[in-house]
Amino acid sequence: MTEDSSRPEDSRSRTWTVLELLRWTTDHFRQHGIESPRLDAEVLLTYALGIKRLELYLEFERPVMPEERARYREMIRRRVSERAPVSILVGEKEFWSHSFRVSSEVLTPRPDTETLVEGALVRMPDLDRGYRVLDLGTGSGAIAVSLAVERPEARVTATDLSPAALSVARQNAQNLKMEARIEFLEGDLFGPVSERCFDLVVSNPPYLARQDQLDLPPELGHEPEVALFGGEDGYSVLKPLSEQVFHRIKPGGWFLVEMDPGQVKTVSGWLLEQGMDSVEPLKDLAGRERVVACRRPQ
Ligand SMILES: C[S@@+](CC[C@H](N)C(=O)[O-])C[C@H]1O[C@@H](n2cnc3c(N)ncnc32)[C@H](O)[C@@H]1O
Repeated sequence: MTEDSSRPEDSRSRTWTVLELLRWTTDHFRQHGIESPRLDAEVLLTYALGIKRLELYLEFERPVMPEERARYREMIRRRVSERAPVSILVGEKEFWSHSFRVSSEVLTPRPDTETLVEGALVRMPDLDRGYRVLDLGTGSGAIAVSLAVERPEARVTATDLSPAALSVARQNAQNLKMEARIEFLEGDLFGPVSERCFDLVVSNPPYLARQDQLDLPPELGHEPEVALFGGEDGYSVLKPLSEQVFHRIKPGGWFLVEMDPGQVKTVSGWLLEQGMDSVEPLKDLAGRERVVACRRPQ
């Protein structure tokens, strides 16, 4: 490549193919310390071209039009200079095989959280039962909507402190045709459901410690603080949640809560103190203890 054509930003007149752009971007991302350079390049280019991921592999030799390249170039710039996550740039993220709309007002759902969904479904084995389920701190609605899809008779309540998050969650429920089965309520902890009991309560609360903030990846700066930080030590939501959940669960019902692996022992202790039994850590895909499951005795 000649010097003026070695950077897609600089060489606006030259025609680039899909494969050439992918190679260039992967290299560019790697040089800037992006963790998954090829994957990010593929997802962004797929979005800029308005095609599906699989189609990208069939179109490696396709020339990329100037307007497509301009869209792509802008996303590459934001990925590198602002560390904007790919999910925010394309406005969606796959979770439990569904596509969820995301924005900087909600946490982008993480693959680790699928452990929570999996563990919840195992504890609601009956497809025909009208389980009452609460997802506390629903964010994008990823957990609530995924559970509603998998258990067609269940009635799900999804709460959040953030009205902006609830509006994204409602939109996701509509997109996946689950809006009639999910009730959305705004409020702090169990405030919006203070008189009710559920067969299953799930929560992925904010659990990062503010004191560790400087060690966190810059991409997290694009997600809401209320979704990330559980106070100075990471427990400001986990602790009241563990202390209050017992009375919001029917006898024999379950509670599953996500956390950092380093918090599992402390939270399990609180849950045992409250009278929960069958307290058990569940591992994520990387083999780390990511969720604590427990039951209110019969
Ligand atoms: C880590 S995010 C989880 C989002 C989503 N459930 C997921 O797993 O992708 C935590 C969510 O809890 C909400 N939240 C934080 N503190 C809360 C509180 N005290 N009561 C209710 N929701 C809270 C935040 O607004 C955020 O949407």
